[in-house]
Amino acid sequence: MAVRFPETPRSPPPALSIRRMVPPDLPQVMVLERLAFKHPWSAELFQRELQHDWSTILLALPAAAADPTVHGFIIFWLVHDELHVLNVAAHPDHRRQGIARRLLLEAFAQGRGRGARLATLEVRRTNFAALALYRELGFRQVGIRPNYYTDEGEDAVLMNLDL
Ligand SMILES: CC(C)(COP(=O)(O)OP(=O)(O)OC[C@H]1O[C@@H](n2cnc3c(N)ncnc32)[C@H](O)[C@@H]1OP(=O)(O)O)[C@@H](O)C(=O)NCCC(=O)NCCS
Repeated sequence: MAVRFPETPRSPPPALSIRRMVPPDLPQVMVLERLAFKHPWSAELFQRELQHDWSTILLALPAAAADPTVHGFIIFWLVHDELHVLNVAAHPDHRRQGIARRLLLEAFAQGRGRGARLATLEVRRTNFAALALYRELGFRQVGIRPNYYTDEGEDAVLMNLDL
């Protein structure tokens, strides 16, 4: 008889709302940025993105209005028929709950509504969680950019998805 191990129960996905980032969100967004990335963006870079017409930052926030913790964000550009994903992050305490997937699907829906036909991104070759996420959503590898990330000389994997 096959031995069956009990599955580790996953915590239920939090009730989240998704909305565009506005300047007062910056401190909470920076908390997540620093938790999620070894080489975080500066606050100035986020402020610059907020001023660009072609750039959108979406936040995933707890539906309970009293909790300001940013659970996830995605930054993307819309230029002509292309949606370019610059970054996506989920809070370390809330990973594998579908937050990044939800943010990406929302970005695709908004992009499609504004005429985007192709989604593109670059991801570090060793970022296995992100690679798995993008593949699960249907992205395919279309190239490698050697030493793209100058901080560690790491290659970028280029990926595309037809929207
Ligand atoms: C990559 C990242 C954004 C994923 O966020 P997340 O909210 O945990 O991802 P989701 O729960 O939406 O995962 C969706 C699917 O992606 C895949 N996936 C996500 N994380 C994974 C992991 N650590 N290992 C394997 N597969 C993974 C799975 O297929 C998953 O579906 P499943 O949980 O039903 O198996 C998150 O790990 C993160 O913030 N990492 C640090 C920042 C970063 O590297 N961002 C990407 C920059 S390009």
